Amino acid sequence: MKLIVTDRNGKVHTLDGREDWSAMEVIRDANLPMSAECGGACACATCHVYVADGWVDRLVPAAQQEVDMLDFGVAVQENSRLACQIKMTSDLDGLEVTLAPESL
Ligand code: FES
Repeated sequence: MKLIVTDRNGKVHTLDGREDWSAMEVIRDANLPMSAECGGACACATCHVYVADGWVDRLVPAAQQEVDMLDFGVAVQENSRLACQIKMTSDLDGLEVTLAPESL
């Protein structure tokens, strides 16, 4: 399945997602800049992404821990999610996200 990622320079990368990997793992495996400091434990908010229109409602809703952690994110928007909490499945083939800024 494909994961389409726009980096902070506006460049679009089409990545090969792997079933059961998180979007964060796919992004880091492609060496795109995402610090993901906690390694996917939903404890840092440095894997913050914006989910493209049309995809937000297709994701499993954020658990309370993710909602709470997003409070620590930078420039959080309605379509913000933590990439480590998005599990890649065939339903998400073609998912589009944009890397959020790490600082303002
Ligand atoms: Fe830390 Fe996602 S990697 S919250």
